[in-house]
Amino acid sequence: MNRILALTVVVSAFAVASASAADGKALYEKDCAKCHGLDGKGKTKMGEKMGAKDYTDPKVQDAVTDAASIKAIKEGFKVGDKTLMKPSEGVSDDDAKAMVAYMRKFKK
Ligand code: HEC
Repeated sequence: MNRILALTVVVSAFAVASASAADGKALYEKDCAKCHGLDGKGKTKMGEKMGAKDYTDPKVQDAVTDAASIKAIKEGFKVGDKTLMKPSEGVSDDDAKAMVAYMRKFKK
């Protein structure tokens, strides 16, 4: 009986962990790749138009902190009056962190 309970706990903990690990990628591909590209290079039609940077470039990655990235995701990103990125709606802190973690993997 206890073994079954323990197994259930392990299995459900694993399900939660793998769901949140997958989220960054899934969220990014759904909401961000149209500008930043599936490969993070920003070489999409929209990305080129808006001036998305190449996130495989370590210099680009180093220039932006996690905190700034999370802020850009949640609150949007503007240069002067020009909105480059709209705030993402319904994104939790964990979602934003997962997306930033996923974007960090583009770094070469
Ligand atoms: C409409 C196009 C567009 C979409 C959609 C978009 N971005 Fe951006 N994003 C930009 C542009 C343009 C910039 C400014 C240049 C750059 O840093 O690439 C930017 C900047 C950023 C930055 C750097 C912010 C800073 O402080 O320098 C991060 C991190 C980022 N985007 C992540 C994301 C994530 C994650 C998503 C999905 C939730 C997303 N973007 C969706 C266009 C977009």
